Amino acid sequence: MTTNKNENYTGKVAFVTGAASGIGRAAALAFAREGASVVAADVSEQGNQETARLIEDKGGRAIAVRCDVTHAEDVKAALDKTVEAFGRLDFAFNNAGIESRKSAPTAEYEEEEWNRIIDINLRGVFLCMKHEIPLILKQGGGAIVNTSSGAGIVGIKGSPAYTAAKHGVIGLTKAAALDYAAQNIRVNAVCPGYIDTPMMGRFTGGTAEGRAKVIAEEPVGRMGKPEEIAAAVVWLCSDAAAFVVGHAMVIDGGQTVQ
Ligand code: NAI
Repeated sequence: MTTNKNENYTGKVAFVTGAASGIGRAAALAFAREGASVVAADVSEQGNQETARLIEDKGGRAIAVRCDVTHAEDVKAALDKTVEAFGRLDFAFNNAGIESRKSAPTAEYEEEEWNRIIDINLRGVFLCMKHEIPLILKQGGGAIVNTSSGAGIVGIKGSPAYTAAKHGVIGLTKAAALDYAAQNIRVNAVCPGYIDTPMMGRFTGGTAEGRAKVIAEEPVGRMGKPEEIAAAVVWLCSDAAAFVVGHAMVIDGGQTVQ
């Protein structure tokens, strides 16, 4: 990680939520590989510290911060630590999210589960942006990427909360993009298809049959890799994407094309 650094990222700081696992960890590693200092923020302290260790092992700079994205004070404290450690904030990947514990048609969907999903997957993204944006503005601009889903593009039967939250992330992304485009902050979203992460392991039950069922929905005949989402996130934050504003980038092997 000490060579081939990208000038877009050298001396810059990236804040990544959900960085203890899956897509977030892959993005944290990808930002560090490009030369950015990384703040790995997650409720899982152990996984978080492992992500920071993986970055440092390769010569990168990272800190791990425990942060529950549903608690404004946690988010504020994590961002304070970001500035304390690295002096600034340039990029944020608001990616922390959970899957539904069970599937049920809308009228039978439990209110408590609705609240839990909306709280983390949608309100958490709002809270992060609310506290990240003033810091990014302080040093003249930057870029934010929020994690939506294929469920932000199409409806998922039996999954009203997750579908609503992920559609909401796209709406929120577009509104924030318009709010800050003139102030040099670009806000975009990624919409991953089925990605082979611990979340997907829980979703498929980790069985060959479960995996095959998911893969059958992917026109490319495989799941995506977390690194394939990370690459898009890093690109969306780069100067190469300077004209990309309020976009929801679908990276799903063709799953939602039909
Ligand atoms: P994962 O379960 O492997 O990682 C999610 C991370 O978020 C975990 O480390 C977890 O501790 C953290 N997290 C959960 N609640 C949190 C909270 N309140 N505050 C801070 N951190 C919290 O999941 P994966 O697959 O990496 O998912 C990342 C994002 O991508 C999620 O928003 C998910 O909805 C989305 N996504 C995933 C897809 C997939 O196929 N894996 C497909 C489409 C979207």
